[in-house]
Amino acid sequence: MIYHQVIVVGGGLAGLRAAVEASQTADTAVLSLVYPMRSHSGAAQGGVNAALANEEACKDDNPDKHAYDTVKGSDFLADQDAVQIMTSEALVRIYEMEHWGCPFSRTAEGKIAQRPFGGAGYPRTCYASDKTGHVMMHTLYEQSVGRQVKVYSEWEALAVAVDEGVCRGVVAIHIPTGKIETFGAQAVVFATGGIGRIYGNSTNALIATGFGMAIAYEAGIPLKDMEFVQFHPTTLYGSNILMTEGARGEGGYLTNNKGERFMKNYAASVMELAPRDIVSRSIQTEIAQGRGFENAYVHLDLMHLGREKILERLPGIRDISMDFAGVDPIDKPIPVQPGQHYSMGGIDCNADGQTPVKGFFAAGECACVSVHGANRLGGNSLLETIVFGKRAGEAAARYVNESKVKQDGLKALSAAHEKVQQNVKAMTERTGGENCAGIRRDLQTLMPDKVGIFREKKAMSEALTQVKELQRRYQHAGLNYTGSAFNLDLIRALELGGQLLVAEAIVKGALVREESRGSHSRLDFTKRDDQHWLKHTIAHHTPDGARLSHRNVTLTKWKPEERKY
Ligand code: FUM
Repeated sequence: MIYHQVIVVGGGLAGLRAAVEASQTADTAVLSLVYPMRSHSGAAQGGVNAALANEEACKDDNPDKHAYDTVKGSDFLADQDAVQIMTSEALVRIYEMEHWGCPFSRTAEGKIAQRPFGGAGYPRTCYASDKTGHVMMHTLYEQSVGRQVKVYSEWEALAVAVDEGVCRGVVAIHIPTGKIETFGAQAVVFATGGIGRIYGNSTNALIATGFGMAIAYEAGIPLKDMEFVQFHPTTLYGSNILMTEGARGEGGYLTNNKGERFMKNYAASVMELAPRDIVSRSIQTEIAQGRGFENAYVHLDLMHLGREKILERLPGIRDISMDFAGVDPIDKPIPVQPGQHYSMGGIDCNADGQTPVKGFFAAGECACVSVHGANRLGGNSLLETIVFGKRAGEAAARYVNESKVKQDGLKALSAAHEKVQQNVKAMTERTGGENCAGIRRDLQTLMPDKVGIFREKKAMSEALTQVKELQRRYQHAGLNYTGSAFNLDLIRALELGGQLLVAEAIVKGALVREESRGSHSRLDFTKRDDQHWLKHTIAHHTPDGARLSHRNVTLTKWKPEERKY
């Protein structure tokens, strides 16, 4: 067994920020599915929000206005106390990143530059051209190296060991060798990212499977608000690679096959800078009503921005657009369509990342604090990683240092290890049957079709039946390759079991929530219903599937009001 006081699972921004913090007072290690710099956080493009008020256009901005925009963007489902923590701590976290050397783009005066983003009253999004996640990853990785945080790369956590409500560590597999190992810890922080690859049309990396959420869920830690799945309005037609919201922040237009800036019909006061749920629905409506191209996409037009601005502010998306669509946005519009991008839901935790299981914390996209409610504003995700990653790391180290519970989880750890070994053995013995790839493909098709941007009872009921059927097929599915080294057939198969559990929680939450709120837009319940549904959905794992309960939303200053833009 390997032992560290704190084990952070996930080497992206939230995980590294948690590790940097925890390592100040506790022996801390990071367990990462890939080399940390390959984490999906590195794909974040457009920026990170903080009310720095650095530009003339945002000189009146402040954290309270940022909080209000976030709450309104969330369609009033976010917990307002947590939002206020996030927006007020944003400033110090951004300046800390700057002092650690993060190369943000600059104003003419040398301050951190800020661009407009959707749903924000002011230009508030700090950026590094269109590679913000990449440079933030470099900054935090350097900090973790400087603090000698031990990193176990290419290890995937497969189970959490919990003993009478106390977390004792994790069991993980070493991908290069297939070795299964127990990692004992007094505190575990999950920062395992989102669920993207449950959907076939995701902007997310292949490693964003939702498996981290699934193993926490199976260990008895509930998931919250899983029905709220964000579709980014502008992903490249065909591949669904992200085309940053920063492109619209810099002045890009969305146009239909009549050459119209159609957002005037949906959000006239803010046009292309409406929140993502609204822009995605608008694009989807244009396409459904025959005003798209090839019944599949609209245009993101940057040509009027001019070559110089595109090369300075949006070089990355120009490259992607040329490489993957053969389109140079300097002289042609980019074909875009909405694609799955983010999970507002996740592991149920508070603003310190504390979950109902002692010693088990969560941060970043896999966590639901909740600061995004029913719809996240662009730029608040990177912010969440550094604010709540730091808080979770600090809380985990404090728990270790103050806890009377000393490491005494051998029984739970060896039970978890035994169970994982049995699962892996069973999976590797099932050769010759159906391969998991087909089940995954079916899942990735049904989720955008039936639990996508627009939803209704009939399709979602079918989705639930189909997910149950996929779970049944999964019980009999096997592998093509049974070797130990780099057995990605095995790894993906193990992940698939978790993805099916998470998918079920998404579908059940969406079916039960009979209203439209934020990203959850029902054709059969078109209005928001605060009387019955100003509530979080909590999904508890049981052997018979997800059991749902509900919890009130925390309101502080802002009464729910009609959300108009
Ligand atoms: O559009 C983007 O650059 C994505 C930002 C985000 O998801 O916050």
